[in-house]
Amino acid sequence: MAQFTLPKASKIDKKAGDLFKAKKEAKNIRVFEIYRYNPEDRQKTNPYIDKFEVDLDECGPMVLDALIKIKAEYDSSLTFRRSCREGICGSCAMNIDGTNTLACTKSIAECKNDVKIYPLPHMPVIKDLVPDLTNFYEQYKSIKPWLQSKEPENPNQERLQSPEDREKLDGLYECILCACCSTSCPSYWWNGDKYLGPATLLQAYRFISDSRDEATDQRLDALEDPFKLYRCHTIMNCTNTCPKGLNPAKAIGKIKQAIADRKA
Ligand code: SF4
Ligand code: SF4
Ligand code: FES
Repeated sequence: MAQFTLPKASKIDKKAGDLFKAKKEAKNIRVFEIYRYNPEDRQKTNPYIDKFEVDLDECGPMVLDALIKIKAEYDSSLTFRRSCREGICGSCAMNIDGTNTLACTKSIAECKNDVKIYPLPHMPVIKDLVPDLTNFYEQYKSIKPWLQSKEPENPNQERLQSPEDREKLDGLYECILCACCSTSCPSYWWNGDKYLGPATLLQAYRFISDSRDEATDQRLDALEDPFKLYRCHTIMNCTNTCPKGLNPAKAIGKIKQAIADRKA
């Protein structure tokens, strides 16, 4: 069986901020400006921007294709997350051309002149384009993202739903937890330690809406908090940025409504 091997990365003897040039014969060049941060580098000024010329005639159409090419051919130290390469895993979320999105589904042709790539905003950076999502996942864990039912599980029988009840999960179950929405939310930037943010709240509403879940009251009790939920001021950045076309702001509004309704 043929074995795939990465081309040998060029020797890195450049200074921070130098331009990596494409081959002379390249005709279809785009410049990629990429945020770099190396926690182990105490010599250079951290962070800094590197520029890479990429020959688009020898590159796939998506921004992730360009990043993979840059890593393979120019600088193997460039660090970013990716896995599925088709908008399913959420791991390649980053800020491209000023918008939080998925590198694997963002086409280079859609980007303006030089393609500017940064990590998701307002998160601690581990290295280059890799943010530290520890707090984000802790918050997700805090909403108990699993079905809670009084009836013990029967391994021989599914928990059935009517088609109407199943439909209530549309627009919620598709969330891939990429964090594009939460990291575009000003309330989350300022209070990310206490405010749960749009991604986690959309996931919380996914379980509140599920006809098979029997912990709705406990879930609403846990969310009724001036910071966890009510830091959302309906600024709508979350909905505008979601690469899956979901509407976290609407889900947050529904949670607030459910809390209000049970008081009425
Ligand atoms: S709601 Fe959209 S932007 Fe937010 S985490 Fe889910 S898929 Fe990503
Ligand atoms: S609607 Fe709420 S969650 Fe969405 S960006 Fe605005 S404040 Fe953040
Ligand atoms: S690599 Fe999985 S969403 Fe982009």
